[in-house]
Amino acid sequence: MARSYSLKQVLFGTDPGSVPCHNATAINMISEQQIDQIADALATEGYIILDHVLPESLLALLVTQAIAPEVNHYKAAGVGRDQNLQQIAAIRKDEISWIDNTNAAGKDYLAWMECLRRELNRRLFIGIFDYECHYAHYAPGDYYKTHLDAFKGNTNRIVTTVLYLNADWTSDNGGELVMYAPESNNVLQKILPEFGRLVIFLSDKFPHEVLPANKHRYSIAGWFRVNNSSSTRVDPA
Ligand code: OGA
Ligand code: MN
Repeated sequence: MARSYSLKQVLFGTDPGSVPCHNATAINMISEQQIDQIADALATEGYIILDHVLPESLLALLVTQAIAPEVNHYKAAGVGRDQNLQQIAAIRKDEISWIDNTNAAGKDYLAWMECLRRELNRRLFIGIFDYECHYAHYAPGDYYKTHLDAFKGNTNRIVTTVLYLNADWTSDNGGELVMYAPESNNVLQKILPEFGRLVIFLSDKFPHEVLPANKHRYSIAGWFRVNNSSSTRVDPA
């Protein structure tokens, strides 16, 4: 007797625990359980810290690209449209490199995030529309003072993601992401930027800062947005 397959199985394979991403390489899979866990956390605490939720092969690609020595693809980060360079340097010292589809690392990361975007919308009805992200490099001593990634009524950034790409990072190296409680400003979490760690939080809820490190620190900061009406990308939060 012929075996019958559901449409989902035919299109995306037989693993019932995974959902498909918009990428044919099949490395960009995320399980239903992981997405449920992320959605639940965003709906309750408003943030989540996950380790090695992205495929190892993708993490390896990303770290290669982040530290690519042949070209310096980073440039000084801006903070807000109306701030001058001196003010910006007082707030943040990192340099950034926007991610696009032009290489496998960027393409696969964006595809993975597209999958998460679609599945979060399905669960939370938050209508997130697109995703933008950049590599960030903090040289020793660099920091990013306490800030919000979004201000109520004044932004399209809804959910922040930060992925860390630093192998062999210990507490002696510093560089923690410090998250503060929305109302009290008490320290909520001090998070080491360890390889493969992904932090996801509501962009307008949690003030946060990056403490200086004594080693080069690489991450990818990204934002799910409600629309893509931003006319320029020169001034990310
Ligand atoms: C940011 C940011 C945190 C980090 O880029 O807006 O807060 O840990 N990054 O790199
Ligand atoms: Mn931030």
